[in-house]
Amino acid sequence: MKVLVTGAAGYIGSHAVRSLRQRGHAPFALDNLSRGHRQAVPADIPFVEADVRNTETLASLLRTERFDCVMHFAAFAYVGESVEAPLKYFDNNVGGTLSLLKALAGSEVRRLVFSSTCATYGDRAEVPIVEGAVQQPINPYGASKLFCERMILDLQRSLPDLGVALLRYFNVAGCAEDGTLGEDHDPETHLVPVMLRTALGLHPKLLVFGDDYPTPDGTCIRDYLHVEDLVEAHGVVMEALERGDRRVYNLGVDRGYSVREMLTAASDVVGFGIPFEVAARRPGDPAVLYADASKIEREVGWSARHTELREVIESAWRWFRGPPQG
Ligand SMILES: NC(=O)c1ccc[n+]([C@@H]2O[C@H](COP(=O)([O-])OP(=O)(O)OC[C@H]3O[C@@H](n4cnc5c(N)ncnc54)[C@H](O)[C@@H]3O)[C@@H](O)[C@H]2O)c1
Repeated sequence: MKVLVTGAAGYIGSHAVRSLRQRGHAPFALDNLSRGHRQAVPADIPFVEADVRNTETLASLLRTERFDCVMHFAAFAYVGESVEAPLKYFDNNVGGTLSLLKALAGSEVRRLVFSSTCATYGDRAEVPIVEGAVQQPINPYGASKLFCERMILDLQRSLPDLGVALLRYFNVAGCAEDGTLGEDHDPETHLVPVMLRTALGLHPKLLVFGDDYPTPDGTCIRDYLHVEDLVEAHGVVMEALERGDRRVYNLGVDRGYSVREMLTAASDVVGFGIPFEVAARRPGDPAVLYADASKIEREVGWSARHTELREVIESAWRWFRGPPQG
């Protein structure tokens, strides 16, 4: 299939481009490079530098390129930043998705795979979280993605032969197994890269945001899915998506690890204790989030291959210890 990948120069989008190609599809990359890296997309993949909020550019691209599917990764994705600058998140995430949907509505594209997040659930859902759980986001990032989900589902009511997949990721971590593609955010806020950058001496110590949560060791618990498993799930779901389908799946490994457990595992991988300090809780962080990802396995046969935390951290360490970071 010919697939438009928005946010293709970012962490997950760039892994998705690679995985789509490996599965025999023809990815076409789009990114405004606000947070991504041009070199993360191979030079022989078609690349357009554009903002998804530019509806005219998108409409003309969809008209001329006649894609079979759009995978929409382009967004801002930091909980903390969204609390400090909520309108920036609504503008880019909701505005960007609205613009894409306007272009898509006037096109022949009949498959849409959307990057959603467990942040749409908030902190009221019981763990492990199922897709039917209450969605009450507690931060603007989660709220922006929930609005996008609703816009997509409402559009589908008016375009009944559009097949849509809303994929709610939990935490994504790790890097390509061959060490040639990885995670490089600026600023970096995700736990695995921050731990490993601390191990490399690029940060003096890791800040553990809160150790007084109602969890066994007091630190937040999250579900960490390897990025290669995540992008594989996108390919599998896209291939299964029929006209008119409405598929909503959690993507995770069905278990959570606390920040302290992550620190112990990462210290073990790097071979020494990673320095850390406990800081105040960060606004907008739920105590425990992990997935029940059994629905996607039942319906399309996908489940995570990297089920050992060590494998996820080791793949990231291979990337972080190489140039330019290490
Ligand atoms: N990383 C995670 O753990 C995680 C978890 C849940 C959901 N997600 C979702 O996955 C998607 C990708 O996340 P990521 O970690 O790869 O982030 P990222 O910042 O690495 O990638 C996002 C890419 O989108 C591009 N972009 C942003 N706004 C754009 C716009 N208006 N027009 C065109 N391009 C734009 C950026 O330049 C960047 O390359 C996001 O939608 C995010 O919400 C990520």
